[in-house]
Amino acid sequence: MTTKAETVLVTGGAGYIGSHMCVELLQSDRQVIVLDNLCNSSAASIDAIQRITQKQLSFVEGDVRDSDLLARLFAQNEIDAVLHFAGLKAVGESVAQPIKYYDNNLNGTLRLVEVMSAAQCKTLVFSSSATVYGIPDSVPIDESTVTGAINPYGRSKLMVEELLTDLYEADPSWRISLLRYFNPVGAHASGEIGEDPNDIPNNLLPYISQVAVGRLEKLNVFGNDYDTPDGTGVRDYIHVVDLVKGHLKALEYLAKGPKLAIHNLGTGNGYSVMEAIKAFEKCSGTTIPYEIASRRLGDAAVSFADPTKANTELGWQAQFDLDRMCEDVWRWQSTHPTGYPKA
Ligand code: NAD
Ligand code: UD1
Repeated sequence: MTTKAETVLVTGGAGYIGSHMCVELLQSDRQVIVLDNLCNSSAASIDAIQRITQKQLSFVEGDVRDSDLLARLFAQNEIDAVLHFAGLKAVGESVAQPIKYYDNNLNGTLRLVEVMSAAQCKTLVFSSSATVYGIPDSVPIDESTVTGAINPYGRSKLMVEELLTDLYEADPSWRISLLRYFNPVGAHASGEIGEDPNDIPNNLLPYISQVAVGRLEKLNVFGNDYDTPDGTGVRDYIHVVDLVKGHLKALEYLAKGPKLAIHNLGTGNGYSVMEAIKAFEKCSGTTIPYEIASRRLGDAAVSFADPTKANTELGWQAQFDLDRMCEDVWRWQSTHPTGYPKA
């Protein structure tokens, strides 16, 4: 007897993490439907996913807040689960334009769960973030750490976590996984997909890689007077391929029965800005010019995960180290110095 392949809707599937997710889903023989409005991505990633996997997915250009479009998608397809990546993620922009962030991140999720509920599809994995922990009092950070976001982006993630928790409490037939990502970096080993920020990158690894490739002149190191071994900020960088594999494990976990589960996805290791620069220089054979600048507002000195809960409950553990993350970023960046081909 053959069983029907699982069909997964991936919102935001053309983006950085979503595109890596699609590769893993197709390679695990699932059917994939991507819904993305391309506000922060390019359809070139969809072509690349299909080249890497030699498989087809179904791409729908549209907005996750469009209830009619969502309802059509659910009417036309037997969707078993939704992986919800679509959202806006730039912290600074969220401070300047909070309503845009609340509209996209909250309304996107509300419209989605309304339509899912009507279609009796009640399996959802949500892209949350370690940003919900704000500035932690201690590390490593486990899931029982008090939450308290410190900017509109973070608050939008926390509010979505809360509304999904309320939804589950009202209707415990849902299967919901809230995955709190630490610092996703890296790229697929093929070098065909990777992170392609629209503007000047906010995050460390994309910034370093654009310096390495000559698009940016030098890196500003935001503070070297933190209480850390070399004075620079420490983070839990996690390879994007490890991260998306965590989502496959979350789907398997949800398949066991209704629940609302929260898991950190991190490696449990912290690396400083200086260690990241050195690792990138080694892997790329380049020199990264840098300058010490003042601290960035809202930055924690140290943040890294206690991933024990995901290790034990999901049977998931990150495999790749910082050198491998840098190697893969460099392969992508050096072969795509200006990102995906522009239309
Ligand atoms: P990304 O911007 O590359 O991907 C998000 C995708 O969603 C983009 O392709 C964008 O076009 C699409 N999108 C945005 N709003 C949409 C809408 N209303 N309708 C349809 N599509 C829409 O970002 P990413 O790094 O891949 O992040 C994916 C998710 O993970 C986001 O929810 C983000 O907040 C979360 N997250 C990311 C990080 C990180 O460091 N990258 C860390 C923690 C959590
Ligand atoms: C940022 C976001 C956070 C989000 C996370 C993962 C802010 C304030 N926080 O956090 O909400 O969840 O990304 O996407 O934007 N650094 C430099 N120079 C740079 C860039 C970064 O020195 O040009 C330093 C930072 O001070 C930090 C480290 O590098 O110590 C990592 O920074 P980044 O990649 O932006 O991640 P987070 O600070 O963890």
